[in-house]
Amino acid sequence: MKYGIIGTGWISRSFIDGARLACDAEITAVYSRTAERGRDFALENNIPEVYTDLEKFAKGDFDAVYIASPNAFHAKYSLFMLESGKHVICEKPLAVTPDEIEACAAKAREKGLIYMEAIMYMHSPDREALRSAMSELGEVTSAHFDFSQFSSKYPAYARGEIPNIFNPKLATGCLMDLGVYCVYPALDLFGLPGKISADAVFMRTGADGSGLASFNYGDKLVTLTYSKTGQDRCGSQICGDRGTVTVGSISKLQEMEITPNGGASSALCPERSKEEIMGFEAYEFEKFIQNPDDEKYALCSRMSLEVSRVMKQIREICGIRFD
Ligand SMILES: NC(=O)c1ccc[n+]([C@@H]2O[C@H](COP(=O)([O-])OP(=O)(O)OC[C@H]3O[C@@H](n4cnc5c(N)ncnc54)[C@H](OP(=O)(O)O)[C@@H]3O)[C@@H](O)[C@H]2O)c1
Repeated sequence: MKYGIIGTGWISRSFIDGARLACDAEITAVYSRTAERGRDFALENNIPEVYTDLEKFAKGDFDAVYIASPNAFHAKYSLFMLESGKHVICEKPLAVTPDEIEACAAKAREKGLIYMEAIMYMHSPDREALRSAMSELGEVTSAHFDFSQFSSKYPAYARGEIPNIFNPKLATGCLMDLGVYCVYPALDLFGLPGKISADAVFMRTGADGSGLASFNYGDKLVTLTYSKTGQDRCGSQICGDRGTVTVGSISKLQEMEITPNGGASSALCPERSKEEIMGFEAYEFEKFIQNPDDEKYALCSRMSLEVSRVMKQIREICGIRFD
C-alpha cells in the first residue's frame, strides 16, 4: 500500500521502517512545513515526493497517511486527509478531545475509510500474551502502570526554551505523551473504572511534567504514574493472589515476566525492535483497510474513544489545560 507521511520527526522514521518491514509499504510522499526539512527527510528515507502545501499533498499518489505532528494538529490533519479520501493512521493520542475523535470517526465512516490510532499496546501480539497471563494470576488485587522517561528535551527546557513537548499550546505534556500508555492497559485489562483520582506537577511552561492517577474498581485500585522529568527503573506490575506479572516497558509491552507466588519467573514475550513493534500497527491498519468489519477495528476504535474520555477526566481533575 502507498503511504504519505505528515511529520518529519524520528518517530516517522520508525514507522516507515516498521511499515516497510511488516507490509512492504511504499512511501510515496512527505509533507513538511519547510522544503529543506522535507527534502532532507525524503532523501534519508527514500521518498520521491515532497510537499509543503497540505492541499497539494492531500491529492498525492497514496492511499493512506501516517500523521506524527504535535498532538494539537492530529484532529485537524486527520479530518482534512479523510475528507480528501485517504485512510488515516495517526499517532497517539489520536486527538486532544473525545469530540474530535468522534468527528473524525464519523467522517471516516461517511467516506468508507479507516481511522486508527498508532498505539503500540493495542497492535502488539504480546498484548494477547499479557491478557492470557491474567488468568494465571488468580484474583487480581492491584496493578500499577508506570511510564516515566526522562525527556531528551529537558536540557532545552532547563536552558529556558519551550520545546514542543512542554508547550501546552500544542496539547502536549506528560499525560498526553506518556500517561496514555498507562491508561490503555488499565482500560483494556480491567474496563472503565468506577472512580478516578488524579494529580499532576506543572512545569514553568504550564505543561504537566509528571502525574499520577488512581482508578478505583471496587475490588482493586489500579495506579498510574508517568513522568517526563524522571526515569523509572522499576516498571509496571499486576498482582494477583496466585502470582504477579511484571512489565519493563508498558508502551512496547517488552520485558514481561510472570512469577507464580513461591515459584520461578518465566518470560511472556520475545525481545522485539521498535521497528518490529511499529510494523504490527501498520500490519493491522492494512488488515482493517482490507476488512473494515474486522472486530478488532471496532475494539480499537472504541478503546481510542474511551481512553480519550478518561484522559479528559484526568485533565479536568488535575487542571491540565491547553490553549
Ligand atoms: N509511538 C511512539 O513511540 C511515539 C514516539 C514519539 C512521538 N510520538 C507521537 O508522535 C507525534 C509527534 O511527536 P514528535 O515528538 O515527533 O513531535 P515534534 O518533534 O514536536 O513534531 C513532529 C513534526 O511535526 C512538525 N511540527 C513541529 N512543530 C509543529 C507545529 N508547531 N505545527 C505544525 N507542525 C509542526 C515537524 O515537521 P516539519 O517541521 O517537517 O513540518 C516535526 O518534525 C506526537 O503525537 C507524539 O505523541 C509517538
